Amino acid sequence: MALEEGTEVSVSEAQIAVHWREEEYYAPPAKFIGQANASDPSILARFAEDNFPECFKEYADLLTWDTYWHTTLDTSDPPFWKWFVGGRLNASYNCVDRHLAANRNKAALIWVPEPEEEETRAVTYQELHRRVNEFAALLQDFCGLQTGDRVTFHLPMTPELPIAMLACARLGIIHSQVFGGFSGTACGGRIADSGSRVLVTMDGYYRNGELVDHKAKADEAVSAAREQGQEVDKVLVWRRHHGRYSSRTPMVEGRDFFVDEVLPRYRGRSVEPVSMPAEAPLFLMYTSGTTGRPKGCQHSTGGYLAYVAGTSRYYQDIHPEDTYWCFADIGWITGHSYIVYGPLALGATSVMYEGVPTYPDAGRPWRIAEDLGVTIFHTAPTTVRMLRKTGPDEPAKYGYHFKHMTTVGEPIEPEVWRWYHQTVGKGEAVIVDTWWQTETGGFLGSTLPALQPMKPGSCGPGVLGVYPTVLDEDGNVVEAGSGKAGNICIRNPWPGIFQTIWGQPERFVDTYYRKYCRDEKSTDWHDWPYFAGDGAVEAADGYFRILGRIDDVINVAGHRLGTKELESAVLTVEEVAEAAAVPVMDELRGRVVEMYVSLKPGYTASTEIEQKVAGAIDSEIGKIARPKNVWIVADMPKTRSGKIMRRVIAGISNFADVGDVSTLANPEIVEDIRHHVHSRKVESGELPRELTAEELAEIKAFGRTD
Ligand code: PRX
Repeated sequence: MALEEGTEVSVSEAQIAVHWREEEYYAPPAKFIGQANASDPSILARFAEDNFPECFKEYADLLTWDTYWHTTLDTSDPPFWKWFVGGRLNASYNCVDRHLAANRNKAALIWVPEPEEEETRAVTYQELHRRVNEFAALLQDFCGLQTGDRVTFHLPMTPELPIAMLACARLGIIHSQVFGGFSGTACGGRIADSGSRVLVTMDGYYRNGELVDHKAKADEAVSAAREQGQEVDKVLVWRRHHGRYSSRTPMVEGRDFFVDEVLPRYRGRSVEPVSMPAEAPLFLMYTSGTTGRPKGCQHSTGGYLAYVAGTSRYYQDIHPEDTYWCFADIGWITGHSYIVYGPLALGATSVMYEGVPTYPDAGRPWRIAEDLGVTIFHTAPTTVRMLRKTGPDEPAKYGYHFKHMTTVGEPIEPEVWRWYHQTVGKGEAVIVDTWWQTETGGFLGSTLPALQPMKPGSCGPGVLGVYPTVLDEDGNVVEAGSGKAGNICIRNPWPGIFQTIWGQPERFVDTYYRKYCRDEKSTDWHDWPYFAGDGAVEAADGYFRILGRIDDVINVAGHRLGTKELESAVLTVEEVAEAAAVPVMDELRGRVVEMYVSLKPGYTASTEIEQKVAGAIDSEIGKIARPKNVWIVADMPKTRSGKIMRRVIAGISNFADVGDVSTLANPEIVEDIRHHVHSRKVESGELPRELTAEELAEIKAFGRTD
């Protein structure tokens, strides 16, 4: 990772000594321990390093295999690891069919629509089976799709999304769900990258009380894909209200089809699940990285499914009688792994909610929990912060009881953790803080809920069979308990790891393995640590505290946004010459984006240009990425070689010290920008607040990978 040229940055993340208070431990409640899936400490020995990789047989044995595998881990083509080689199975069969004999009438999914007056709907395993088969028949016959083809979904949080996923899985078609909140253009880019010729979408969905016109995005997506050389022949449109079209966008003759009109042709049809090799790709999930082009993370069938089933069992502690609610969007990896594949592989009841947490008020999640008897609750710190701010006393008003709660996606502040524990969990629930990534398929760091105590703000040690380590820039281990931060890596492969970046195998190796590879010719996994791209500190007890991304990715409300993607969206605005996105600490959303732009000669700053910049982000990426502020500046602070010093503007945006700027090509600009930004911030009521050691370290390190 090159430091910016011409600067005197001598502090690397690994060298920053971070001094914070060690938090106290919390023991899991006895009642939880008494019923936990993993309550016998011998499990830790079973998954110890000397039993690797065979320990993962225990996860694979949770599945039904058509053909059992002969090799647990094949390392012959590093770092393209292959798990459960020789095995064959079908993910749809494992998540649906095999539960019919004993649990035909059990709810697989419970869907809660956002409008509170609309009825909650349970989809039994029997109904799921019928609907998955019918939709699979439609994909096969009506769309002519075959094993290995890719299909893009741009679906909201309705049961049609898991149904479509499982229908693809039944046929070995690779699904690629794009988060519904992403723009049509962003969806189109992913259609083109994956080479999909079918798009599955919905006319509308409810968000914050409004029926959003979603089909409009499909038209944008199809034309964006076309511009990138990919034709979409069919757009399948589910209707949010059966038989009633909720979009103002016309249907395109010969291209767009209402699913509810075509589906009756396949009524009662059954489609044999295709027996897939364990190593066949199951789905793609796009995520952001250092460069502008999104990465299609390719996940396997056998390794992935085994991993999410195993971690759902031991870390989510799902039992057959639990009502499990993961409050994430299936458009992100959390939803794929821990709403759909993990829980359904175990035959659980998984709750899906369509809308926003605070609609119509901050009591909504707790009413849902009470009504459905939710026992396991899973969400992100952003949601917890929002509910804490808008309805701190709401949980106490409802009679639900959680035995288990999860936090995922961002670091959680210890005081927010305590509110989650005390107020949401009523002091009765165990909490797991699960650290992982789109790439990793499932959890990497967490406490085993009945066996390892919780520590607010730390995810815990590596999960079963996963051995993390913190390395400095030169690959030396940063010792546990040293108080020093470094780059967290995983020393070994695990079954949930993604197989490659779709169409970019070189980028896969470069981004995740090149940095710390000890010998590129070696087929010994010990030589290929996985570089996660997060800064972390390992405490003396072996618990990891995750500090956040060390690459140019900003984690907004648990969603990863690449600065390069944001900046290229802004560069589509005619007046803009240069753009730089920086993270700003935010009380609710963790981080938000501020965008700095300089204009081409002949243009002057105006609110209109600011709005155009924000609008470009809405249309190129989606509203979730909308910057908090757009700052039009006369020039960017630059190194002598012309690189934008993001660290300096990030410091200004956060009211932090910008460090030594004397070596810049234009040091005088820093004061001008600071004055402009701070006076506007203060005018709008934003006051400086004291930053934590972690936050300061993050700002200092920001932009180092340029
Ligand atoms: O920086 C880490 C942060 O989220 C990143 C992964 O984002 P994404 O691929 O979108 O997946 C989110 C859901 C797994 C990580 O590199 N992150 C994730 N979980 C945690 C976290 N940071 C701190 N604590 C966590 N529990």
